[in-house]
Amino acid sequence: MTDHDTLRFYEENALDYSRSTSSRSMDDSLVPFSKLVALGGSVIDLGCGSGRDLVSFLRLGFRPVGLDLSRNLAEIAAQVSDCPVVIGDLSSPPFADSSFDAAWASASLLHLRPDELPSALLEVARILRPLGVFFSSIKTGRGSSRDADGRLFTYYGQNEWRVLLEKAGFAVLHLQITSQDPTRRDDDEWISCVARRNASVEGKSE
Ligand SMILES: C[S@@+](CC[C@H](N)C(=O)[O-])C[C@H]1O[C@@H](n2cnc3c(N)ncnc32)[C@H](O)[C@@H]1O
Repeated sequence: MTDHDTLRFYEENALDYSRSTSSRSMDDSLVPFSKLVALGGSVIDLGCGSGRDLVSFLRLGFRPVGLDLSRNLAEIAAQVSDCPVVIGDLSSPPFADSSFDAAWASASLLHLRPDELPSALLEVARILRPLGVFFSSIKTGRGSSRDADGRLFTYYGQNEWRVLLEKAGFAVLHLQITSQDPTRRDDDEWISCVARRNASVEGKSE
């Protein structure tokens, strides 16, 4: 569950935020990621924000669904993309087991507190089909802090992120540091990671 101040920022600034982020191309990550997904496959965008990436997935021939805790951003995303967008918490996504072929979490998991992250990653694994692919981008660093807008961020190291994913039942396929800010709002370094869900998670064979 995102903390109150973080959610308030997105609710109160939804229109400005979506305008400031919607023209940023994620193609460098999104196009190679999409090549790992069968055409026509289902993709859940966890923390979809403005809906920018829903539009890209739709254009590439996939069936994207958005999820965002901000009601105002979810409404914008649905209008912009014409995709289904669910208002909900990525810590407890309201979807059945193995619902999606792929999951995309661009700059969203970083808003969870560190103690919430392991169970959130297990939830991502749960809603992905076995061998489904998962993209995540987060900021590199240590600890948690708030930015000037009051949003809470938690930072991770490369190995730390890899281990967290592996513990949740993923095999990391590709992990890189980039200095690109998906939202062009700061100079932080980012980790972009593509992982594949194992055939079974937590001893559950499928
Ligand atoms: C930094 S923005 C990134 C938006 C979009 N993915 C992008 O790359 O432009 C973070 C997004 O995650 C959403 N978010 C934060 N915490 C969330 C949570 N617990 N559940 C669902 N969405 C969340 C916010 O409302 C916001 O839309």
